[in-house]
Amino acid sequence: MSSSLIVYAIGATGTLVALALFNLVLHVWRISTSPLQHLPGPPSESLLWGNTKAIQSEENSVPQERWVQQYGHTIAYKSAFGVCNLWTVDTRALNHIMTHSTIYQRPPPARYLLSHVVGPGVLVAEDEQHKHQRRVMNPAFGPAQIRELTEIFTDKSNQLRDCWLEEISKSGGVSARVDAPSWLGRTTLDIIGRAGFGYDFEALNPGEKTNELNEAFATLFAAPNADRRFFAGLQASIPLLRLIKTENNRRNERAQAVMRRMGMKLIAEKKAAIMAETSENGRGIERKDMTERDLLTLLIRANMATDIPEDQRLTDDEVLAQVPTFIVAGHETTSTATTWALFSLSQRPDVQSKLREELLDVSTDSPSMDELNALPYLDAVVRETLRHHSPVPNATRQAVQDDVIPVGTPYTDKHGRVREHIEIKKGDIVFLPILALNRRKEIWGDDAHEFKPERWEHTPEAAASIPGVWGHLLTFLGGPRACIGYRFSLVEMKVLLFALVRAFEFELGVPVEVVKKRSIIVTRPVITGPDGKTKGSLPLIIRPYRA
Ligand code: HEM
Ligand SMILES: *[C@@H]1O[C@H](CO)[C@@H](O)[C@H](O)[C@H]1NC(C)=O
Repeated sequence: MSSSLIVYAIGATGTLVALALFNLVLHVWRISTSPLQHLPGPPSESLLWGNTKAIQSEENSVPQERWVQQYGHTIAYKSAFGVCNLWTVDTRALNHIMTHSTIYQRPPPARYLLSHVVGPGVLVAEDEQHKHQRRVMNPAFGPAQIRELTEIFTDKSNQLRDCWLEEISKSGGVSARVDAPSWLGRTTLDIIGRAGFGYDFEALNPGEKTNELNEAFATLFAAPNADRRFFAGLQASIPLLRLIKTENNRRNERAQAVMRRMGMKLIAEKKAAIMAETSENGRGIERKDMTERDLLTLLIRANMATDIPEDQRLTDDEVLAQVPTFIVAGHETTSTATTWALFSLSQRPDVQSKLREELLDVSTDSPSMDELNALPYLDAVVRETLRHHSPVPNATRQAVQDDVIPVGTPYTDKHGRVREHIEIKKGDIVFLPILALNRRKEIWGDDAHEFKPERWEHTPEAAASIPGVWGHLLTFLGGPRACIGYRFSLVEMKVLLFALVRAFEFELGVPVEVVKKRSIIVTRPVITGPDGKTKGSLPLIIRPYRA
């Protein structure tokens, strides 16, 4: 018995070692045959980590911008374990990558980590499944739908304004010190709750009773501590390790269960309401005086509509997965963008006054979407914020098959040959350099790194070549996988700035030198203390504006 166990153990170990060796050989073969190694670029600094140290020691995109200056617009550098990464700011090449979204997909480890938080929603789905989901969901994010949601944005933004007025009166009536990311984060959570699925998180006015769903999400979205994060990263890259259940995995599963139970209840209620209303008016699902106009209701309704073939409808699990998807994709992105807008306004008092003047000319506290869109300087400030601070600074894709990418401007490869294409091999990693393109001097001019809303009075011609879904910017990407919620977030940001800039004057609560940017998917402000340690926050001094 024991001897057979030993034989079994040796056999199992042998198999594992063989498997590991096989993977290693496969990996080395892959990276040594990637055509990307012929591209120019910085020399690799370490066999194990490639150029990652340089990338992580500076703010997002800074080393790559330097490399592009030095080696040309299409380069490759090494990430961990010698993997070649393509980094190009050639807009024709980027257009090709983004429009061929079935070739260039989200890399499996990133997909795994995301799917554990949001499930099989539109952020995670690929190929046909993704196409079906977008088809059913796109209409819910159209201009007419967002127009209807504006009232929710104004309610919540005005509530934030009143909270801040209260903070001021609590601290003596003259001014208050507020942590912008925290307040704005709670506001956008409340907004996506109401506008996304008709649910009130009450994050702005937490009452006595705890909000179960709020807690489940807090658990799901909480960043695990460093060693847990390390192991979670290993699990993402090495599927075998997923068989081990860590405390982190178990906590997530419990939170998922709460989310699932409450999400399914929400969906059942909405379905029932739609059915009742359908049988009431006796003709298909269309009624003007709908009270429920949240995104989830719209999408359930679209999913039940007769023009969607049976086999292309979303399953209940897919519909459910859109709930955390909206929160993950739409909450901190918008709150962080608004935080950066207030940061820049605090650094540019002239821009702040000019904006306030425009906003105070409007005679209502609750403007409509069309009234907001008619304000040119507000529009310029929002555009400039989303250009200069690009909340999501880059995106990664992996080729699932060999491909050839055309470039708009030829480049010279490592061997001195002038090339008009980039050859890609299955498995290669390519970057979508959102921030780097949004502030590329060749497109925006020498002041590309400055915050300057006035530049939008004369958009440079070269910007028209940027293949983004919105505003000559890559902020929301482009192609079939562009941000579905860009109209939502633009109006939401405008409403927030409208409410806040009319009511307050803003000043930065710390010296500007201690404000740094840290990017984990989204670029947030961090403050470095005297001990050199950083914490995520941005203190602002607010004063009521008196004309
Ligand atoms: C300033 C705010 C926002 C920014 C900068 C932003 C940016 C982006 C970017 C860059 C992507 C592509 C990510 C990738 O594929 O790697 C994306 C995707 C997405 N965004 Fe946004 N977003 C914002 C707000 C929102 C809002 C408010 C919502 C929803 C209410 C939303 C929903 C989504 C969804 C569902 C996707 C996945 C689309 C797909 O893969 O088909 N986003 N967003
Ligand atoms: C892309 O952005 C992420 C932050 O979300 C960062 O960790 C990563 O290093 C960036 N990649 C490159 C190549 O800049």
